[in-house]
Amino acid sequence: MFHSSRLPIYLLILISFTHNAQATSTTRPRTSRLSWAGRTFGSAENGIELGKRESNATPSALWLPYDEYSGKSFFDRWDFFDQADPTHGHVTYVNRSDAFSKNLVYVQNDGTVIMKGDNTNFLDRGVFRDSVRISSKAQYNTGLFVLDLNRAPWGCGTIDIKEVQNTMMTVLTGVWPAFWTVGSGNWPQTGEVDIIEGVHDNEHNQVAWHTLDGCRLTTPTNRFTGTLVSVNGQNHTDCNALINDNAGCGIVEWSRASYGPYFDAQGGGVFVMKWDEEGIAVWSFYRAAVPKDIVEGTPDPANWGLPSAELWAQGCDPLKFFANHSIIFDITFCGDWAGNSYATSGCPGTCEDRLIDPANFANASWSINSLKVYRKQIFSGRNAGFSLHMRIPIQHTVAMVGILGLVFSWT
Ligand SMILES: *[C@@H]1O[C@H](CO)[C@@H](O)[C@H](O)[C@H]1NC(C)=O
Ligand SMILES: *[C@@H]1O[C@H](CO)[C@@H](O)[C@H](O)[C@H]1NC(C)=O
Ligand SMILES: *[C@@H]1O[C@H](CO)[C@@H](O)[C@H](O)[C@H]1NC(C)=O
Ligand SMILES: *[C@@H]1O[C@H](CO)[C@@H](O)[C@H](O)[C@H]1NC(C)=O
Repeated sequence: MFHSSRLPIYLLILISFTHNAQATSTTRPRTSRLSWAGRTFGSAENGIELGKRESNATPSALWLPYDEYSGKSFFDRWDFFDQADPTHGHVTYVNRSDAFSKNLVYVQNDGTVIMKGDNTNFLDRGVFRDSVRISSKAQYNTGLFVLDLNRAPWGCGTIDIKEVQNTMMTVLTGVWPAFWTVGSGNWPQTGEVDIIEGVHDNEHNQVAWHTLDGCRLTTPTNRFTGTLVSVNGQNHTDCNALINDNAGCGIVEWSRASYGPYFDAQGGGVFVMKWDEEGIAVWSFYRAAVPKDIVEGTPDPANWGLPSAELWAQGCDPLKFFANHSIIFDITFCGDWAGNSYATSGCPGTCEDRLIDPANFANASWSINSLKVYRKQIFSGRNAGFSLHMRIPIQHTVAMVGILGLVFSWT
């Protein structure tokens, strides 16, 4: 009988060492890390294993370091999108060389990563403002995505209702940033997850999912702290992106500190998206409440309490509707904000007026400490001894360090 939670971890380490006797303390080269991208590390088979073990008190999974974007190398593994904004923003997305030469992206000496919309140039009326949209070269299938940021972009926003392609659309005029993931191929075949999408009143973040037909947000409301997005009294629980003006299904965070001036004023915080066979959940923590295990690089969602938002697998298969996701950061201005009629703060003038003056974009910037991706390692115990399921050998030196850290802090 193994009731101690330590034993499986020790065994994991033992196995890691025996399987990787040649592992040295040098970091894996980035290029070989890339080759991990796109590998499915949360299979349905693992899901069944986890389900079986739900009544067992011993931990059934560890989240191990897989990928990290931070410091001077932050921008090395992203593509800069430089086409017209698909959400019809009044924005010019610049390419990599322009982004650096125009100082729209840079890494400070202390390692803080900055991405922003142009906040220095006065524009003629009707001219679009420069900004950036980047997407990770790596594609992920499941994972724990942990974004530590000091501030997310925000700015005065107003809502207009206007006709776009014969449909009445709600159009946000203002700063519209997003941190999201989207799958390869034709949208929305492989799904989209909006993790940070600051709109509305500049105080509450909104989490949303956009998929093909067949995915429903049926998560019981006692499993998350947010509020279902509703339009005209109708809750948007059908995640089908091809209806309701592409609105998808969504949940607005309860916390006022989840976005905008309050979020920035208290030092930002951490957003986490957990995507595994159980579903897709998002947590946000303001700075003072970031769990210790996240700070220490050994995240364990079981410690965090209810997520702000969750799309559970019972209503939507997270391994079927979501695949091959790249991570995206963007900041656009005055784009579509389909299907939402949330009351919003009024700002003077029109979007075009506001675009002219760079001072209006003083807060339209991302300030990021790190973006870390963890992969789930399932291990299962049985009453007659236990077996370890190591479908992917632990070769990652960083992972080893993480596990050692865990053991040292637990002993
Ligand atoms: C980046 O964009 C600028 C402006 O459109 C263009 O002049 C330049 O050639 C582009 N650079 C690359 C490397 O594509
Ligand atoms: C919409 O969802 C909320 C929970 O967020 C619930 O209280 C309300 O009854 C739902 N409304 C409808 C029309 O289903
Ligand atoms: C994901 O990407 C892989 C490799 O490019 C591809 O073979 C697979 O069909 C993609 N999956 C989906 C659901 O598009
Ligand atoms: C930027 O943020 C500061 C601090 O919250 C605020 O005083 C200022 O009005 C903001 N500026 C704009 C243009 O939103």
